Amino acid sequence: CGIVAYIGHRQAHEIIIKGLKRLEYRGYDSAGIALLNGSLSVYKKKGKVSDLEKFLQDKPLNSNIGMGHTRWATHGEPNDRNAHPHYSASGKLAIIHNGIIENYGALKQDLINKGHTFLSDTDTEVLIHFIEDIQEHNNVALEEAVRLALTKVVGAYAIVVMSLEDPSLLIAARKGSPLVLGIGKDEFFMASDATPIIEYTNEVVYLNDQEIAVIKNGELSVKNTANLPLTPYIQTIDLELEAIEKGGFEHFMLKEIFEQPRSIRDCMRGRLDSTQGRLVLGGLSEYITKLVNAERILIVACGTSWHAGLVAEYFFEEFCRIPVEVEYASEFRYRNPVIREGDVVIAISQSGETADTLAAIELAKSKGAIIFGVCNVVGSSIARATHAGAYTHAGPEIGVASTKAFTAQLTVLSMIALSVAQRKGTITEQKLHELLVEMETIPAKVEKALLLNDEIKKISALFKDSRNFIYLGRGYNFPVALEGALKLKEISYIHAEGYPAAEMKHGPIALIDEEMPVVFIATRDSSYEKVVSNIQEVKARKGRVISVVTEGDKLIPAMSEFVVEVPAVHDALMPLVSVIPLQLLSYHIAVMRGCNVDQPRNLAKSVTVE
Ligand code: G6P
Repeated sequence: CGIVAYIGHRQAHEIIIKGLKRLEYRGYDSAGIALLNGSLSVYKKKGKVSDLEKFLQDKPLNSNIGMGHTRWATHGEPNDRNAHPHYSASGKLAIIHNGIIENYGALKQDLINKGHTFLSDTDTEVLIHFIEDIQEHNNVALEEAVRLALTKVVGAYAIVVMSLEDPSLLIAARKGSPLVLGIGKDEFFMASDATPIIEYTNEVVYLNDQEIAVIKNGELSVKNTANLPLTPYIQTIDLELEAIEKGGFEHFMLKEIFEQPRSIRDCMRGRLDSTQGRLVLGGLSEYITKLVNAERILIVACGTSWHAGLVAEYFFEEFCRIPVEVEYASEFRYRNPVIREGDVVIAISQSGETADTLAAIELAKSKGAIIFGVCNVVGSSIARATHAGAYTHAGPEIGVASTKAFTAQLTVLSMIALSVAQRKGTITEQKLHELLVEMETIPAKVEKALLLNDEIKKISALFKDSRNFIYLGRGYNFPVALEGALKLKEISYIHAEGYPAAEMKHGPIALIDEEMPVVFIATRDSSYEKVVSNIQEVKARKGRVISVVTEGDKLIPAMSEFVVEVPAVHDALMPLVSVIPLQLLSYHIAVMRGCNVDQPRNLAKSVTVE
């Protein structure tokens, strides 16, 4: 979910609605706003922020304080009633919440026993009733009631609370879900990330877990849930407004796909210089020897970031000769994993907020592991929870389907691996030089791969009504097959499976008939000959072969119904290029099917629930 709140001298609803639109990547099944203007007015609607905006057209909105929420449903189906903000029993307090209150059942039962009735099925409504109940029974100020309530709450939250009785007051707190405060001149902003804020101020405070921020009569104070006053650390952030706008593209996803030559270049800028044999990752320097001496590397991530981890596994094993295991963060954390001294953990996350990944980090940390982070969002929870790390610098990624963040992750992970290999002596100077030179050519090669756009659009038109897709690849292209399938299913709702090409004969081959599109990522690499045999196996069963090949290949095009050619690249760096046509294929198919590409159903970009 995404939250925004404002207090100051401007029209609160304008800032809130605009901010919620920027945060829609965090969830978009319903939205709501609360304002104080002599009374507490709450408006909420199932659907997108734009639906809420329409609903607000004829409402009285004049107010300098307010808060809003865009939701990704956890408790309670997405409808008007379950949308946030929620009220307390008296109707005087309002709350917005991102996260989950795990013990809400017990709290709710207690409150029901005391005579409370609830209007929604949400855990959030329980929390605001609970806060008010504490306030009344203990006769304390609202900020103290919030603090006391939070000491009793199990779960994750970023909340903002507002009261009809004091229009100069906003209270925010966080544990597990992100919250940023923006500090302007005689005005304050609160939001799940900095994007709703940067237009007005670049001075921000990232609230830490267990911290409560109180804005009262124009003054900010921060304390923790143990009631210890803290000095807020004000940072200046550097984020351009253009970076979070569509810039002429029809969708954020397309814009982000086309940004990749730039984002990959940005990711290498100042870090890699082949002419000087230089590879510097500032954020790692202090801990790099831990990686060099690691006996094993554990990579934890979810979704697309997990796929980047799989590519990194091949890369680290090939060049650093360190065993690597790639784990779904959600599985890792719940199965009592073996973490030994000498193990190093790398956590990969675009948002830096994924709850499972964050929890996996905390678990590994508690067992003494050193953790490296590969995050895109600067100042995010994961970036702050790790010992060291390297940002991907891809710029804000708004489309829910990850594209430029993936290639930036691959770029950073390759640089980390090469830098470890260099120190470890597991790579020759010549090979290292060759790979560094090759990396510098990647942005231009991605640029070239993007020229396939029109061709891929035509192929998309022919396959848009397919009900299934299979993606096959081997070696470094196997994770690319997984990623291609994930891209297609998440935005076009076509069932798709990625498989290692050779493994196909152990099951998926049974699915192949004359209607099944099979996408082969069959670039010229060490497993090329084997992939050729796999294509034959599919053809023999009348499958429809679409191949991604290396420029100039003659053999595979002759065997395929459709072919797209990408520039030649070293095997280990090929995923950076071979994924591009797959991103475009899923994009065009989804657009042609009339799907909401940037905000596919049921998904959220940043999953801050477990
Ligand atoms: C969500 C997104 C995916 C993303 C995954 C991991 O499911 O929809 O695109 O790959 O989370 O997110 P992270 O921010 O940790 O990379």
